[in-house]
Amino acid sequence: MKRLKIDLGDRSYEILIAQNLLAQAGEYLSRLFRPQSRVVVVTQPSINRLYGEKLVTSLQMAGFRTKTIEVPEGEQYKSLQEAEKMFDQLLDFSCDRQSVLVAFGGGVIGDLTGFVAATFMRGVPFVQVPTTLLSQVDSSVGGKTAVNHPKGKNLIGAFYQPRLVLIDLDTLKTLPADEFRAGLAEVIKYGVIKDAALFDYLGVHVERILALDTDRLSHIIETSCAIKAKVVELDEKETNYRRILNFGHTIGHAIEALTSYTAFKHGECVAIGMIYAGRLSKETGHCSEEVSRRIYSLVKRFGLPTDLPDLAAEAIIEAMRLDKKAADQKIMFVLVKEIGQIEFVENISEMTLRKVLEN
Ligand code: NAD
Ligand code: GLY
Repeated sequence: MKRLKIDLGDRSYEILIAQNLLAQAGEYLSRLFRPQSRVVVVTQPSINRLYGEKLVTSLQMAGFRTKTIEVPEGEQYKSLQEAEKMFDQLLDFSCDRQSVLVAFGGGVIGDLTGFVAATFMRGVPFVQVPTTLLSQVDSSVGGKTAVNHPKGKNLIGAFYQPRLVLIDLDTLKTLPADEFRAGLAEVIKYGVIKDAALFDYLGVHVERILALDTDRLSHIIETSCAIKAKVVELDEKETNYRRILNFGHTIGHAIEALTSYTAFKHGECVAIGMIYAGRLSKETGHCSEEVSRRIYSLVKRFGLPTDLPDLAAEAIIEAMRLDKKAADQKIMFVLVKEIGQIEFVENISEMTLRKVLEN
């Protein structure tokens, strides 16, 4: 069992990483919450079919009164309408402020459940049980919760930390391969921004990681969560430093928006975004050709997309200006200096951007 702590004063919490953790969920929740509390598991039908019984049995054995809410699959259900349906169901189940929500799924379930937990009765505790690689290394840690708005993704939300994160490595065995690779893009990101040793480790163990070797998975998930935990401890509300996590996301978000969030997965867009952020770093003299090439090569070896889809450079630049992370329409880039070292850069000329995006 790997145990990490995210230190946020009285909102600190642990991240536990191990095999077969679902069966121990009841035990870990009972250390935090009163016996007989109502515990509501929020999940999707396919995850419920695969693992619901294991999780719920463990919670019931620990004495909790449980209910399961199924949310249909898809990003479009990360919505206010779905949150409202959940409020109704929580009230029907007589939930009170001591009730606990368990987000059991990928980032869609984590973000939606976290948002409902932040707002139901002005805030009830919630636990993250992430089941995709992306949610295990990124979205379950750090307290960003949100639903989407017709005008854009994640526009309605709150910073609201979970009370515990339980990462059961066994759940990755059923994750579709393309979803797994999409999560790896975020792991590569942590290597680029903060940890050259992680980046090298990924390069040495590509085949074993893709074969879901438990020890390798455990190592990369623990290292990623430790990096994210440190960043969040330093800048929980993203006033400044937390933007480091946006490496590859500036261009990535623009690709997602321009392809209506349907053609690519988030991690795939981040993969392409990291390659172009590397090239931009090289073009602006922040890093060497070799650094940029190493990013490209690792992304490619993990089978992630490497090429920009057929989009006009102007459209990408415009989408980056409209992103909610841009301030006064100024695009903020996270550029790489060396593997493991980044720099925030704001003033990149449109000509340079176009040159990199068009090559
Ligand atoms: P997802 O939640 O849509 O899950 C992807 C698919 O995998 C779904 O169809 C799901 O049912 C299925 N699935 C999940 N676990 C499975 C398992 N163990 N076995 C088989 N199938 C399984 O996708 P995601 O990539 O986990 O999350 C994307 C969401 O996360 C986006 O909404 C994004 O905005 C959000 N996000 C949030 C943060 C944050 O900090 N809060 C960070 C990154 C991304
Ligand atoms: N996924 C980026 C962040 O949590 O800040």
